[in-house]
Amino acid sequence: MEGAMTKGEIVLGCLAPHPPHLVYAENPEQNEPISEGGWETLRWGYAKLARKLKTIDYDAMVILTPHWQTYIGTHFLGCDAFKSLSVDPIFPNLFRYHYDLKVDVALSEKMCEIAKEAGIISKMMRNPDFRVDYGTITSCHLLNPNWDKPVVTVSSNRNRHYYSVEVMNEQAIALGNACRKAIEESGKKVVLIASHSLSHRHFTTEAPLPEDMSLEHIYNHSQYVWDMRLVELMRQGEMEQIIDLMPEFTEQTIAETEGGGLTWMMAAMGMPNYPAEIYGYQSVIGTGNVIACWDPNENTREVVL
Ligand SMILES: [Fe+2]
Repeated sequence: MEGAMTKGEIVLGCLAPHPPHLVYAENPEQNEPISEGGWETLRWGYAKLARKLKTIDYDAMVILTPHWQTYIGTHFLGCDAFKSLSVDPIFPNLFRYHYDLKVDVALSEKMCEIAKEAGIISKMMRNPDFRVDYGTITSCHLLNPNWDKPVVTVSSNRNRHYYSVEVMNEQAIALGNACRKAIEESGKKVVLIASHSLSHRHFTTEAPLPEDMSLEHIYNHSQYVWDMRLVELMRQGEMEQIIDLMPEFTEQTIAETEGGGLTWMMAAMGMPNYPAEIYGYQSVIGTGNVIACWDPNENTREVVL
């Protein structure tokens, strides 16, 4: 039928933590500091997931990051391209990254519009000098080092700070549903990315050599036990239960799930009841980081670890 548009779809969802340490350890040409490596479990896991992504046909990546924080509503990147130097405010010694990324503005506008229709306060970010947050840069670099796909960044509304984790969870579910509808209407194939760690208590002083792996470990055991509980549920395909546990988990481990990324992604994907692919778990300055992905296609879904 001429003119009929295929329904768009989410072809993969990735939980992709963004410690700048991982980019530092890779020594890509875009990053100024030089390292001797470190955090291989995560970097090798990322490399494997990046290889899977190369086998998947998709048009754009849509990422929700806790480091673009907005206090009034949710914002969406709204210029064709962004190019600048990103300096991590906490780790300028590790991350001074020259980025140059393209945005799928039509998809971004569609998500903003459908979110608005759903009653979510939303706005396009049209400032060409806007500095893209390092969560977007780190997760996208590690998943797609060639940067050959356009991205859309969705901001993290601070419901958790204004109200509570419960409100964050509900708002993120509403936003996820709106984004799925927008993706379907766009006709595009989209990879979603929730850019964050799990448990997030971290050391307050840095090792003399940041990549000295003899000093890297989880901040405390209870944090580890919580992370493993979540990973176990991911393996079992119990995402609904994880989202129900989110307020307690987030409070007890100061988790970076507080930005709503995982809840948003799981809602957009209809709360997967199939096993996640696990690509690695490791601490970075004491935080708990898991790389995981949800593949809705059962023919390509696999047990990775
Ligand atoms: Fe972070």
